[in-house]
Amino acid sequence: MLYRSLAIFLWLTIFLSCRQETGNIESLKEPSLDSLDYNEKFRPQFHFSPPTHWMNDPNGLVYNNGYYHLFYQYYPEDIVWGPMHWGHARSKDLLHWENRAIALYPDSLGYIFSGSAVVDKTNSTGFGTNENPPLVAMYTYHLDKGAKAGRHDFQTQGIAYSLDNGETWTKFEGNPVVPNSGIHDFRDPKVFWHEEMQKWVLILVAGDHAIFYQSDNLKNWQETGRFGKNAGAHGGVWECPDLFKLPVSNSDEAKWVLLISINPGGPNQGSATQYFIGDFDGKTFTPEHNDIRWVDFGRDNYAGITYNNEPNNERIFIGWMSNWDYGQQTPTTTWRSSMTVPRELSLEKIGEHVYLKNYPVSQFQTLTAEEKVVLTSVQDSIISFERSDFEGVEISFQLNLDGDSEIALGTENYKTIFGFKKETNEFYVDRSNSGQIDFADNFANPLITSPNITDKNNVKLKILVDRASIELFIDGGLVVLTNQVFPSSIYDQFFITEGIDAIENLKISTIKSVWHEE
Ligand code: FRU
Repeated sequence: MLYRSLAIFLWLTIFLSCRQETGNIESLKEPSLDSLDYNEKFRPQFHFSPPTHWMNDPNGLVYNNGYYHLFYQYYPEDIVWGPMHWGHARSKDLLHWENRAIALYPDSLGYIFSGSAVVDKTNSTGFGTNENPPLVAMYTYHLDKGAKAGRHDFQTQGIAYSLDNGETWTKFEGNPVVPNSGIHDFRDPKVFWHEEMQKWVLILVAGDHAIFYQSDNLKNWQETGRFGKNAGAHGGVWECPDLFKLPVSNSDEAKWVLLISINPGGPNQGSATQYFIGDFDGKTFTPEHNDIRWVDFGRDNYAGITYNNEPNNERIFIGWMSNWDYGQQTPTTTWRSSMTVPRELSLEKIGEHVYLKNYPVSQFQTLTAEEKVVLTSVQDSIISFERSDFEGVEISFQLNLDGDSEIALGTENYKTIFGFKKETNEFYVDRSNSGQIDFADNFANPLITSPNITDKNNVKLKILVDRASIELFIDGGLVVLTNQVFPSSIYDQFFITEGIDAIENLKISTIKSVWHEE
């Protein structure tokens, strides 16, 4: 009897201390998906956020039979990172999302880390039939026991397939399909069909470089090349690669683009995504520039990847709208983090060089309704507007950057400031009075960047404001700044604070909530 009480006491002590360690778990009531109202404080209204619990990277972005699938790194038991699953949502238009059941659970080979998915149209795996080709996901197995035991081979690559358009998944019994020869960080496989070679290509990252493989059946892989030890930014571990070919606008050229996320080591510390432009010969990648390029100069766009099998032949990108510097501390309650708006990628030649642009997908315009914006006052360069709690705001305009300039978004009490310093040719963002900032030491660090915009005349800006984020697109997405903010009430003022005499073509529109349709 004594032993039994002792055992119960011990179990309770361990149980309660574990629960405490996991932070806010007590307050996480598991709401049924139907009862979710998407109206919690800071809940994004036109971005995807998980119904409940922790989310990080987008995974397995693939279009199939009418649906854009969004799988994501998911921990369904807490609002901080934990044993990873693949959560799942799907959408017909990339704007409105339907939450689906968890797609992949951890197993004896490990947690399910980031990866990608393809439609195996010729049934090269034999997992489906020609009439019903399988969706095949490739992901990293992370064996926590191995990591904790100090081994280096704890990350391997596995595959799983679905014959019902992503609803249920079966793991391949021959996993892992890419074993690990002892590389400490060996993860985040991106698979795609290479038309010219008629082969599957796989790119994954190995700490400070990328490794390429090819295959006929997604199960047997041969290494073909490596890239990156001496190229690009190396302030942190390379993660979440992507590789694709894009036409260069207004030309008959096409170039290969390589995306590599890096953490830490971003242009403003923490996590960020760099890109390379160059050539991929089916075996390895060769860049055509030596400078370091960033997809986004803000603090909150990480681990972004693009869709396979996109029906309109567009290259559509979604990033995790957070940063490992403070992503686990942001002040939300029952869920944590969201994705960027889906963005179309394109290439533009400026002078001798080709740059990557990212801009909201064209269908995003269907959410904006210009006539609904009410400007309540325009006074001393402060424009106040009415927006309901369930609406976002889109602001677009043009200006000349002749001298030091500042604009801001906020309320009477809070402001996020965007500025330009002529002398140093720098843009900056100041979140130090943007709302709640005290949840992490480094959230309000100033952000500075000197991106390449050749022409300072007639600069075009588009700003998307949700309850907890501001996405700023300059010159059609040539320079982008994506940042989270946590104001206690929604931003309803636009300030033109310094040095800007003339803003042209100003348009302010509300953005409809994708979770609360009228
Ligand atoms: C990037 C990342 C990936 C990894 C995943 C784990 O944010 O660290 O490299 O697969 O998150 O959740």
